[in-house]
Amino acid sequence: MDTRRRNLLIGSSAAAAAAAIGLPALGAPAKRGNAPDLHIELHAGPDRVAIRPGATTQVWRYRSRLLRGDAAALEAGAGGYLGPVIRVRAGQRVRIDLVNGLPESTIVHWHGLHVPDTMDGHPRFAIAPAGRYEYEFTVANRAGSYWFHPHPHGRTGKQVHAGLAGLFLISDDEEAALGLPDGAHDLPLVLQDRTFDADNQFVYLGSSGDGAGKQGGGMMGGGMMGGGMMGGRTGRSMMGGGMGSMMAGMMGVLGDQILVNGSLQPGREVERRAYRLRLLNASNTRTYKLAWNDASPLTVIGTDGGLLAAPVQRDYLMLAPAERADLWVDFGRWPPGTELTLRSLAFEGGMDMGGMMGGRAALPDGAAFAVHSFRVGAGAAKAGTLPRRLSAIPAPEPRLAVNAERPKVFELTMGMMVWGINGAGFDMLGASELETVKLGTQEVWEFRNDGRRSMMGMVMPHSMHVHGVQFRVIGRSVSNKFSNEYGTVSAGLVDEGWKDTVLVMPGERVRILLRFADYPGLFLYHCHMLEHEDSGLMRNYRVKA
Ligand code: C2O
Ligand code: CU
Repeated sequence: MDTRRRNLLIGSSAAAAAAAIGLPALGAPAKRGNAPDLHIELHAGPDRVAIRPGATTQVWRYRSRLLRGDAAALEAGAGGYLGPVIRVRAGQRVRIDLVNGLPESTIVHWHGLHVPDTMDGHPRFAIAPAGRYEYEFTVANRAGSYWFHPHPHGRTGKQVHAGLAGLFLISDDEEAALGLPDGAHDLPLVLQDRTFDADNQFVYLGSSGDGAGKQGGGMMGGGMMGGGMMGGRTGRSMMGGGMGSMMAGMMGVLGDQILVNGSLQPGREVERRAYRLRLLNASNTRTYKLAWNDASPLTVIGTDGGLLAAPVQRDYLMLAPAERADLWVDFGRWPPGTELTLRSLAFEGGMDMGGMMGGRAALPDGAAFAVHSFRVGAGAAKAGTLPRRLSAIPAPEPRLAVNAERPKVFELTMGMMVWGINGAGFDMLGASELETVKLGTQEVWEFRNDGRRSMMGMVMPHSMHVHGVQFRVIGRSVSNKFSNEYGTVSAGLVDEGWKDTVLVMPGERVRILLRFADYPGLFLYHCHMLEHEDSGLMRNYRVKA
């Protein structure tokens, strides 16, 4: 099909979709060759949703409308308050207009995507209320489960908690050829934890129900760069809710209710056939240790950056904040009527405020709980075949890194109530020499979570994310002091494939191999436990041409 005809078709399906949702039809399509394959408007704003019986919950959420392209590219959302599911194909040109309907500044980050720095949602690009930001990029990633969420400085935790997050699913020819379960049998499961107050409002750092308003530029609204004992959110939250929330503002916010796809519904019916479950941990701080209640092994087919070379089995699976995992499940293996529950098992070494001023969370990190259940339907099982080979993934070659013998060390540090990397907090436009890399090269980085440079020797897990790239995990080691805790999670790590986020447990050192291709500029790397990120565990790295 020639481009002109293709554009015509795209234009008319967009017009039809616009008419279907009551929007005025588009004017003349943009100039040929200029038009993106997909053009959507993404609006961030307050809303109310029914999550629990009784009062509705104030949230902030993304709403979207299709301006051009295939109507199937925008799905109403995995559920609840979550943003739309955006479905694209590798190689497509995508334009997204962000409109800020929030009472504070925001910006969107496309988590896991390989895009130019101006398209990556760095906090330096945050837009004021009523502002707009136009994204346009070519989808360069392989098929996989990516996502998007806000990234304003010092407010990411608050905004994600209020409900702003959505899935960005990419497909490609390699994946399509496998015939994996699709449609209703390709189920996203977005995991989040929230605490509700008596009026059904989300509680965040001691205040509740402010999801849809009265945020304004409070006294220390944006947080102070680099932070300090009384700087930024720490001071602010202390005023909001006392010592407990001050600690939570630094250690991380944990909810005591588990939401799947923005809903508290405990489960769903499934057919006796194969499904693809796309798990995303979109929780602010909580890490999950996922397992079936009957101890059946989990079959993992994909990680953050898409399909693995071949399926792997795990008795349980660790999923730290922002990590994704795709599971292949054949529900035909269980008799009709079976109630199968995906649980999070107990583990050691999680964030525990038990010994601290804040007291113990109602549902501590590392506690056991049910996540979601699946009621296996009636009828004959429909056999599904899991391909033995999924994807051609090259083996990582650390020897090709410019610093193969001397990994760059990034120590995760905690000063007086402020996180940092090698002792430094966030600096909006700065990157050190160590944080400067050369375009077109590969490097080995090592995240160290020894606690050697931490206040009172406190160590907790971190979920380290690097923007702009997919990397490979090439080594892990743990100090003897923490080997017992580590033993409760280590069998659930999946380091076989492409990653953009990696769990770094207490006492652990994790080595990753990164390749800085295509885009010079300033990108972030940080802990994805969002309160850690917001209080200093975030830095820039610069890719120099
Ligand atoms: Cu998903 Cu910088 O984050
Ligand atoms: Cu962290």
